[in-house]
Formats: sequence, structure tokens, C-alpha cells
Amino acid sequence: MKSRTQVGIIGAGPAGLMLSHLLARAGIDSVVLERRSRDYVEKRVRAGVLEQGTVNLMHETGVGERLAREGLVHRGVEFRFEGMGHRIAFDELTGGSTITVYGQQEVVKDLIAARLAAGARLHFEVEDVSVHDVGSSTPRLRYTVNGESVELECDFIAGCDGFHGVSREAIPAEQLVRYEREYPFGWVGILASVAPSAEELIYASHDRGFALHSMRSPTLTRLYVQCDRSDTIEDWPDDRIWEELHLRLATDDGFALTEGPIVEKGIAWMHSAVTEPMQYGRLFLAGDAAHIVPATGAKGLNLAVADVRVLAGALDTWYRSASPVALASYSDTCLRRVWRAQHFSYWMTTMLHKFPADDAVQRKLQIAQLRWVVSSRAAAASLAENYTGVVEV
Ligand code: APR
Ligand code: PHB
Repeated sequence: MKSRTQVGIIGAGPAGLMLSHLLARAGIDSVVLERRSRDYVEKRVRAGVLEQGTVNLMHETGVGERLAREGLVHRGVEFRFEGMGHRIAFDELTGGSTITVYGQQEVVKDLIAARLAAGARLHFEVEDVSVHDVGSSTPRLRYTVNGESVELECDFIAGCDGFHGVSREAIPAEQLVRYEREYPFGWVGILASVAPSAEELIYASHDRGFALHSMRSPTLTRLYVQCDRSDTIEDWPDDRIWEELHLRLATDDGFALTEGPIVEKGIAWMHSAVTEPMQYGRLFLAGDAAHIVPATGAKGLNLAVADVRVLAGALDTWYRSASPVALASYSDTCLRRVWRAQHFSYWMTTMLHKFPADDAVQRKLQIAQLRWVVSSRAAAASLAENYTGVVEV
């Protein structure tokens, strides 16, 4: 079967769905192709921190109703080391900016509901998506859905298919530079069916390694503990996770971490990658398909949303005025923000984690840096600006 659309989008994660939503608001037709089932993408547990700009975009574009009701607005976070907690007050330090804790899969659910209600062509369980003719003015996507082979002719293709997607491979290797770094550790993450033990996020740097206390709702706690690169989930039975969390989050004044039934458990590896440029011909990469960051700075989801906001604006300009100028600067515009987020995520990661090669001097240096971040207003403000995403570079 042959079909046609203006923008063919691969991937129904936050990037692909938000792009389709923004394009529809500008009167631009798109088709979204997702390999997984709707149920799978709506249940996949991922990040959970939305910057102010992401929250604003959801409200401005009519998909913020449940976010307003269920999102948890946080006006600060805690840094914990040497048995003491230190609060960084985002709102005071940035002139009012906050973050909102709302699971990525909730964003995905809201966007899917909005797209389907608007009659969008959003296909799940699509197999064998392949990308063709991106150097021409009629790029195509081929795929199989419900046993039928389809060729979709597009004006543009958006590769929003995440870190393991196929769109990046459609670009000749010699046209791209890939910057990559792996960190020698990961995070064991759990979702526990219990009320959070603190009102805000706690980033803990301990001699035994990093730990993070986060949440999803008043009855769901999200917790992470740093693990070795060679670990598997079998190395982390529930008892060991709780034991390490208690040790790493402990304070001298007796912080009590409440345990609860673990309803989800997995390991996420820490790495950075950026593909430059984020465009080739009529193929545009967005979100994790183009770049990933270590989770310490909570930037992945927000970068994905920021990319597609720029891309939707540039496509709108192209359809309105036939001017290619905005599309031509898509990659450079996004990469400025991407590298700022890369640096912030690297900075947070190295400040808070235990590296295998660290010596005693390195730990002293980390503590010195942490003390500076929580005592100097300038340093705390710089962290707050980056974390809430208000800094423009
Ligand atoms: N064909 C169709 N769909 C695909 C293919 C393919 N070949 N490959 C991947 N996909 C789908 C995945 O199943 C997924 O639903 O593309 C989607 C990509 O979504 P995400 O991985 O969520 O990426 P993105 O939308 O860029 O959002 C970035 O996700 O990993 C987190 O921390 C990251 O929060 C950030 C966010
Ligand atoms: C989360 O709640 O999943 C979370 C919070 C902060 C991070 C990373 C993940 O830095």
C-alpha cells in the first residue's frame, strides 16, 4: 500500500509524540510509527523530572490538565554528603523557577490520548521501519503493520526513535561525527509502593557511592543506587538495595528511609553521546536518537522536548513561507542546548559518584566541591539555573 504525509515520524516516545502534537497545532499532517505496543510505551518506567519550559509547553498546547492535577511541583532539591543534608532553593535562586515531578510515561499517556482524540495516524506494533531517499525532496518510510507492507511518502522525516533506533543509521557514516563517553557505573532503580521519605529529591554522595531519593506520587517512591558496570540485576536482590540505600542516605540526625514493596526494578547505564549534525537532507534527528546524557542531571526528557519544539517551529516556517533558513539552523540551535546539558550532566555525575580509579585525594576534592555548591550563592544559583533549565547559552 502507498500512503502520504507531510512529516513521517519514527518513534512514539516524548520526542515523536510531542512533535506530532505541535505539528498538528500548526496544521501540519504527520504519521507516527512505533515499534512497541501502546500498552508497553505507556507503562515503560523512565525519567520523571520536567523543567519549567517543558511544563509550560504542555500547558500552552493543551496537554497539561492531568499534569496540573497530579504533577508534584518541587521548589528545591537536597544534596546530602558527610551525614548532612543541604537544600538548594531553586525558586529563590532563579527568580521563581521550579521543577515538576511527573513520570515520563504519564507525559507519553497524555500525548497519546490527545493525538488519538484528534484523529491522528499513530501506529503501534509497526515492524521493519526503513528510511529511504533522505537526500531527495520525497523521502520515504517503508514498514509493515498488521501484516501489510506500506510505503509512506513524506516531505520530511523525523527520527525520534531513541538511542537504539534505525534513523541515525540512514545517514552515511562519513556525514556524522559521534561523540561518546561511557561511565564505569550504572544505577539500580526501583519503584517502591510506599510514601516518599522526604518531600523533595535527595542526591546523596557517599563513600560507598551515589544514591538518589525521588518519587512519582504521594504513594510511590523512586530510588536509585550506584552499581558497578559489571553488575547484573541478579547481583542486587531487594535486601541489598535497601541496605545500600539506608547506608548512603543516612544522616547524623537519623533520617528514616521507609521501605515498601518493590513494584519495578532495573539497571540504567550512565553514558553520554551526541551525533553531529542532527540533520541530513530531509531527515532530522531529535531526542535520544541524536543524544543521550547520564541521568544525574535529569535532562534527557527535557532535551527531547526542546528539540522538537525547535523542529516544529522550523517546519512551520518552511510550510508557511517556503524558507529553509530555520530548518537549516535546526541542528546548530539544538546542539547549543545539548552541549550545555551534556556539561551539566557530566558535572553532576562526577561530583556525586564514586569512580573505580578515585583515590583519597579525589574524594576530598569532591567533598570540597559539594561544600562550595551548597554554601556559595553563586555556585548554588548556577546549579539551580541549569537544573531548572532556565539558562540560555
Ligand atoms: N521503529 C519504530 N519505533 C522505534 C524503532 C523502530 N525501529 N526504534 C525505536 N523505536 C521507538 C521506541 O520503542 C520508543 O518508543 O522509538 C521510541 C523512542 O522513544 P524514547 O526512547 O523515549 O526517546 P525520546 O522520545 O527521544 O525521549 C527521550 O527517553 O530514554 C529516555 O531519558 C530519556 O527521558 C529521555 C527520553
Ligand atoms: C527520577 O525520578 O526518575 C529521576 C530524578 C532525578 C534524576 C534522575 C531520575 O536526576
